Amino acid sequence: MGKDVIIACDFSSAEKTFEFLDKFTGRKPFVKIGMELFYAEGPQIVREIKKRGHKIFLDLKLHDIPNTVKKAMSVLSGLDVDLCNLHAGGTVRMMEAAIEGLTRPDGTRPLLIAVTQLTSTDQESMENDLLIKEPIDKVVMHYAACAKKAGLDGVVCSPLEAGKVHDTCGKDFLTVTPGVRFADGDIGDQKRVMTPAEAKKIGSDYIVVGRPITAAEDPVAAYERCISEFVD
Ligand code: C5P
Repeated sequence: MGKDVIIACDFSSAEKTFEFLDKFTGRKPFVKIGMELFYAEGPQIVREIKKRGHKIFLDLKLHDIPNTVKKAMSVLSGLDVDLCNLHAGGTVRMMEAAIEGLTRPDGTRPLLIAVTQLTSTDQESMENDLLIKEPIDKVVMHYAACAKKAGLDGVVCSPLEAGKVHDTCGKDFLTVTPGVRFADGDIGDQKRVMTPAEAKKIGSDYIVVGRPITAAEDPVAAYERCISEFVD
C-alpha cells in the first residue's frame, strides 16, 4: 500500500458514522475505527463499513498474554480489516503471537503496527509510573525495533518521530502518524502537530486525521485537501 490519508471516525454510533460517510460519494476514504465506536456497535460496524468499500484501520491496541492476543487477532483477521494494532509493551513474544493469529490459512494477513509509548505518556510519568528510566525517544525507538524484530509492519508515531523510525527500522517499516493539522487550522488538544505537507516531507506513510476533517464545514473538501497535500 502507498501513502494514504486515514480518517479517524471518532463517532459514538453507527448512525453518526454513516451520516458522515454518506457525504463521500466519490473516492472512498480509508477509515479508522477506534474503541468507542467498536465497543458501541460491535464487529458489525466493521462489516458494514467494509461492505461500503472502505479500507479499515481497526485501532483497538491489544495488550494481553500472547495466547489471548493470538486468538483475538485471528478474529480480527476474519473481519477482513486492512490494518490493526497492539501495544509493543506486550513484549516481542506477544507480537509474534499476534502475527501468528492474524495470518490466514492462505498466508495473507492484515497489516499490523505497534503503539510504542502513548503520546500521552511523558518522561516523568514513564519514570515514576512505569519505572523506565531511559530517555523517552530511546524507549520509543527500542519498542519500534522490537516490533520490527517480531515481524510487524510498522508503528504508530508522531510525525516528528517518523524520520527517526525510518532511520532505525528501515524505509519500508511503516509510520502511521496522527497529530495532523492544516496550517490555518485549530490545533485543539493536540500538542505537537504537523501539516499534511510537512508529514509527507518527513516521510510518514499514512496520516491519521480526525477533527480537521470530521468537524470541518465541508468534510469532503477537507479530505481532498489532505489528499492533495499528502498524497498527490
Ligand atoms: O481529531 P484528531 O485529528 O486529533 O484525531 C487523531 C486520532 O488519532 C484520534 O483518533 C486519536 O485517538 C488518535 N491518536 C492520536 N495520538 C496518538 C495515537 C492515536 O491522536 N498518539
